Amino acid sequence: MKRTVEPELMSDAKQAKAYAQADFESAHSSYPKLFAKKFPKRSQRAHALDLGCGPCDVTIRFAQANPGYSFHAVDGSAAMLKFGRAAVRRAKLSRRIKLIEGFIPGAPIPHRTYDVIISSSFLHHLHEPQVLWQTIRNYSKAGTMVFVPDLRRPATKAKARAMVKKYADDEPAVLRRDFYNSLLAAFTPAEVRRQLLRAGLGELRVEIVSDRHMIVFGKIAR
Ligand SMILES: C[S@@+](CC[C@H](N)C(=O)[O-])C[C@H]1O[C@@H](n2cnc3c(N)ncnc32)[C@H](O)[C@@H]1O
Repeated sequence: MKRTVEPELMSDAKQAKAYAQADFESAHSSYPKLFAKKFPKRSQRAHALDLGCGPCDVTIRFAQANPGYSFHAVDGSAAMLKFGRAAVRRAKLSRRIKLIEGFIPGAPIPHRTYDVIISSSFLHHLHEPQVLWQTIRNYSKAGTMVFVPDLRRPATKAKARAMVKKYADDEPAVLRRDFYNSLLAAFTPAEVRRQLLRAGLGELRVEIVSDRHMIVFGKIAR
């Protein structure tokens, strides 16, 4: 099945609310564990960048699992950041997670480089995937740990519909629609490998981690 893009920003208030209130426990709880497995000897303290942070559920989980990390979390949707700000406050992490509103590329990202760059479920929103890989290149240095979990595109629309039924049957219609559109907009692992080579990021690896997810991870070699 060919890729069908979806709108980049999730700016609609209802859409942001449905996403912020959705149950992503099974996928999101696995990300900090996978990160720890892929980078077992990481330093205790780090400045981290989260690209396309949305309502910050993933950012918060990483902050809780890595108490020495501070985060700049960037998103172009004010509606999403409203939920993100509230969640960060509830988690009492406002001192360690700073939210930045801005469209990528071009968002006002404060530091020149980061020790860690994470970006969960952002790649599939981009009409031009090199935006993510070039942003990672621009804000990384030798040794930066990169961790990018995302959906991967199923082979057919019927398979995408079956996944929506299996994983989001109880969710509101707007979330089921977005999940379906996201599955159609996602890349395949083979496409991502080609993107990485084109970006000069051949040191990053792509691994399938579930029936609908892959991770891109590794240390920047430069
Ligand atoms: C599916 S959400 C993922 C949110 C969060 N990282 C997570 O895993 O739950 C994708 C987010 O990326 C944001 N986004 C998409 N394209 C963007 C761009 N070009 N610049 C900034 N944010 C963007 C959307 O507004 C949305 O909040």
